[in-house]
Amino acid sequence: MRHLMSPLDFSTEELETLMDLADDMKDHPEKYSESCHGKKLATCFYEPSTRTRLSFEAAMMNLGGNVLGFSSADSSSAAKGESVSDTIRVISSYADICAMRHPKEGAPLVASTHSTIPVINAGDGGHQHPTQTLTDLYTIRSLQGSIGNLTIGLCGDLKFGRTVHSLINALVRYENIKFVLISPEELRVPEYIREDVLDKNNIPYVEVERLEEAMPKLDILYMTRVQRERFFNEEDYLRMKDFYILNSEKMELAKENMMVLHPLPRVNEISVEVDNDPRAAYFKQAQYGVYIRMALIYTLLEVGTC
Ligand code: NCD
Repeated sequence: MRHLMSPLDFSTEELETLMDLADDMKDHPEKYSESCHGKKLATCFYEPSTRTRLSFEAAMMNLGGNVLGFSSADSSSAAKGESVSDTIRVISSYADICAMRHPKEGAPLVASTHSTIPVINAGDGGHQHPTQTLTDLYTIRSLQGSIGNLTIGLCGDLKFGRTVHSLINALVRYENIKFVLISPEELRVPEYIREDVLDKNNIPYVEVERLEEAMPKLDILYMTRVQRERFFNEEDYLRMKDFYILNSEKMELAKENMMVLHPLPRVNEISVEVDNDPRAAYFKQAQYGVYIRMALIYTLLEVGTC
């Protein structure tokens, strides 16, 4: 039995296979419409979500399976003080696979050690968000043909943004990747990622504060929201929240084929006028999230090999 805690749990070859499967699922949905018949996905979400939870549920439904779950800690027995390990022991007897989101770093990992069904980390605190990374990699491969030879700008809350942490971890395994880390001083990428991931893998990167300065060099601009819920005080959040606003004027500085990604939800960091720019790919990215999660569920449940 396999869990998914980090994007590194799959080799790059396995990721290619997963993305090939997602392509086939996108192009031939009818082939897979009963693949998970009789199987159940539990979505255990202790933190708010729209895309991740609903795309998991849509993915399972597209495969002919069923879904059950909860969408907030308040509506689960966590509100009564139940531990994640007790919850997953019980869910293991109700469902065949579980996607879990939790505000505490490592909670899905703890769950996986007490589970008899595959557990997928659907976001743990400011740590990792592997299925968003699968979505991001799949979007890049679908729109650019391959993953590699790219200068990627990561912009916004690089300190608390778990999507950024997972994406850096995953991308350093590809050829000729360069990063431009665009953030205010207070929201820089954590030191452990700079040292243990970027430096250790000899990945070229620069840290800049001004988006305008970075724009002309980028093949991909990955915008992120300032993670309000992870700030210790509201004042700091208010000071930081509108630090970056991508608008049409700034888009003029970018390459003609640059791609703008964002895990969503967006707050103010991308002006709505950018939505009609052909380089804006964030809504397509959200759509690709369904196909790659279908491929993931199918793979972890090993339904293809039955
Ligand atoms: C992200 C998350 O939850 O980390 N959202 C998502 O899953 N698409 C990004 C965010 O909340 O800013």
